Amino acid sequence: MNNNPHLSSKRILSGMRVTGKLHLGHYHGVLKNWVELQHQYQCFFFAADIHALTTHFAHPKEIKSNLREMLIDWLSCGVDPNAAVLFVQSHIPETAELHLLLSMITPLGWLERVPSYKDQQENLKDKDLSTYGFLGYPLLQSADILLYKAQMVPIGEDQLSHIEITREIARRFNYLYGEQGKKIILPEPQALLTKTAKLSGLDGRKMSKSYHNTIGLREDPDSITKKIRTMPTDPARIKRSDAGDPEKCPVWPLHKVYGDDNLKSWVQKGCTTAGIGCIECKQALIDNVVKETKPILEKSKEFENNSDTINNILKNGEEKAREVAQKTINEVKQVMGLI
Ligand code: TRP
Ligand code: SF4
Repeated sequence: MNNNPHLSSKRILSGMRVTGKLHLGHYHGVLKNWVELQHQYQCFFFAADIHALTTHFAHPKEIKSNLREMLIDWLSCGVDPNAAVLFVQSHIPETAELHLLLSMITPLGWLERVPSYKDQQENLKDKDLSTYGFLGYPLLQSADILLYKAQMVPIGEDQLSHIEITREIARRFNYLYGEQGKKIILPEPQALLTKTAKLSGLDGRKMSKSYHNTIGLREDPDSITKKIRTMPTDPARIKRSDAGDPEKCPVWPLHKVYGDDNLKSWVQKGCTTAGIGCIECKQALIDNVVKETKPILEKSKEFENNSDTINNILKNGEEKAREVAQKTINEVKQVMGLI
């Protein structure tokens, strides 16, 4: 695992739903954070392929290739298999076992009132989400977390309700099977909120695959250049000599993430006085984005067409993850009267 002597013994666990190739939003919202955490804590990071099935059960062919692409992105961004334990959710059968066992003590109402349940059903009307598996999404997440007895779970704000239900389930479990909570068998995890705001996309809305406004993590510089050059700008700037307002331009929120103070004041001043043109302004953003993605793209070459490397990484991670998982599942089965 990690030989860093300053490593905290606290365990961190986080998962990412398997979605395929990642974009800059994933990098700024999640992966950069993981890369930092892996040197400070004992980190377990996994690819949630079963969670992907809760909404994509009708497209099983995509899952495996999406999984590969996602893992390549993790590794290319600096998620380090020598620092963190990396694995695939479905490769640890104890996850499914714990999910089933916890389902015995999970009141239906707790699952039904998780806000993401109704929201997603509304948002994804074209999919049939009236399944048992989809209702159980947060419980599967609870099993992920409790199986490894993680103390902290780095997540975005949208996942807070899933951590809350995990805590409730742990409490109920310890109450029922740990002498009314005197013995902590499954510790309650804490959410470690990732503070970065959602990265905005090419059109100014949140960067998201479903809005088709993303820049890929492994996108080549030419394509990045083209995408940024064709971004809309403040509609008031029709001619080069028209002054603009960065607040009305989708390029600006990206400068705020990528630019240093100097650059930002150059944009502010230049835009509002028509001192700079949009082409120059965008070029500065292109340069910064490419500076960030170039090493990622280069590193990814190590992993593309090299499934052995990835398989070895996963095998290693799985061994470590299973060791912890088996211990927990044995304890759980014991107190639940199965062994
Ligand atoms: N539901 C999480 C998401 O959509 C992914 C996830 C699955 C997860 N299991 C987890 C995150 C366990 C943290 C811990 O982002
Ligand atoms: Fe947007 Fe920059 Fe053009 Fe101003 S100068 S409108 S911030 S692209």
